[in-house]
Amino acid sequence: MSLDKVKLISLPKISDPRGNLSFFESGVHIPFEIKRTYWIYDVPGGEIRGSHAFKESQEFIVALSGSFDVILNDGNQEVKYSLNRSYFGLYVPKLIWRRMENFSTNSLALIGTSHEYQVVDYIRNFEKFKLLKNEKES
Ligand code: TYD
Repeated sequence: MSLDKVKLISLPKISDPRGNLSFFESGVHIPFEIKRTYWIYDVPGGEIRGSHAFKESQEFIVALSGSFDVILNDGNQEVKYSLNRSYFGLYVPKLIWRRMENFSTNSLALIGTSHEYQVVDYIRNFEKFKLLKNEKES
């Protein structure tokens, strides 16, 4: 799985003088069924989240409030996405290393994911991740 499968997805935005509304649906705006949703909030300045890859889980990350950076690495290349609008989301396929940093005050990251929480789905060692990627590609 390489970085070319990563996608910044533009979501519907229903502009309204009463306040705007956006949404996403599995299979319509994002290419997988959501099994679980979690969110990251109250991140102290300078903290880093993530720093792992998933063997199977695909994720969709939205900056519901504030801003943060998502740095993705496929074992060869690295790319940084700055998320700062609630009507854009970042699709991250399985087997991509991710790190989230530079959280603004009061930022809120919403993550929809394709699998239930399973410890065994995590790869938390970057060297092991690179070895696994090389095995899969050879
Ligand atoms: P982790 O996925 O490591 O956080 P990060 O997004 O920074 O990589 O999860 C942190 C802790 O929360 C870890 O002990 C596992 C727990 N956790 C759950 O119990 N359920 C979940 O759905 C998630 C995402 C994490």
